[in-house]
Amino acid sequence: MSNEFQGKVAIVSGGGSGIGEETAKLLAAGGASVVVSDINLSAAEAVAAEIMKAGGKAAAFKADVGSVEDNEATVEFAKKTYGGLNLAFNNAGIVGAEKYVGELTPAEWQTVININLNAVYYAMHYQIPAILASGGGAVVNTSSIAGFIGIANLSHYCASKHGVAGLTKAASIEYGCQNIRINSIHPGYILTPLIAQWTDTELKETLVGMHPCGRLGQPKEIAEVACFLLSEKASFMSGSQVVVDGGFLSV
Ligand SMILES: NC(=O)c1ccc[n+]([C@@H]2O[C@H](COP(=O)([O-])OP(=O)(O)OC[C@H]3O[C@@H](n4cnc5c(N)ncnc54)[C@H](O)[C@@H]3O)[C@@H](O)[C@H]2O)c1
Repeated sequence: MSNEFQGKVAIVSGGGSGIGEETAKLLAAGGASVVVSDINLSAAEAVAAEIMKAGGKAAAFKADVGSVEDNEATVEFAKKTYGGLNLAFNNAGIVGAEKYVGELTPAEWQTVININLNAVYYAMHYQIPAILASGGGAVVNTSSIAGFIGIANLSHYCASKHGVAGLTKAASIEYGCQNIRINSIHPGYILTPLIAQWTDTELKETLVGMHPCGRLGQPKEIAEVACFLLSEKASFMSGSQVVVDGGFLSV
């Protein structure tokens, strides 16, 4: 990827693991200064340390994406540490309790909606003025195949990921003429620590069978597309819902 992000400042939320970790590393390998933000500070610090060991620029920051104040603080940290903000990957997310709607408690619903959906609004609310002040840039918000379909037991997750797509499209219209491109990315099932630790091998095999490519995805396969969307190579892409799912949604 060489120097395509040279001079750019990026925030990656959920940067301590999985898709966020791989994206933070790729951005840094391309020359970006990366704020690796995560609620798990030691995980973010480990990723930032790896990036710096490889010769890149990164700083860890502890932030809960579900907190308005933490989102503001993350942007302020990027400005203070690296002098501005150009790129954001709003990626942290959780699956939450797996229950039918009738059993899912209001608190369980609100937790997932807050971390997966409200957080993306909180993030962009503070990021966009900073990106405008830095002369423009790009934002990628992580949705899911669950941003297109329903999945039983995951109504809150599906609603949150559909919401991310709608929020992304509306914001892309608002800022398209101000040199900020905003897109959403929609992974299929990816072998991140979240799924790798599942002990139900039958469920894993069923999921593999739902991907026409015959396997689950790797975090780097999502990171590559996220970095493409954040790069100038995607200069005519805005408001797009980019599916990266090994054919899952085509079945
Ligand atoms: N893995 C998949 O199969 C898959 C599929 C589609 C979409 N996604 C989405 O991709 C994104 C990343 O998922 P992943 O699979 O890499 O997960 P992961 O569990 O490997 O990483 C998620 C990271 O987010 C952090 N995090 C969790 N809650 C947070 C909070 N409140 N504030 C800040 N950080 C928080 C965790 O500490 C962790 O480091 C999520 O939005 C997820 O919904 C994942």
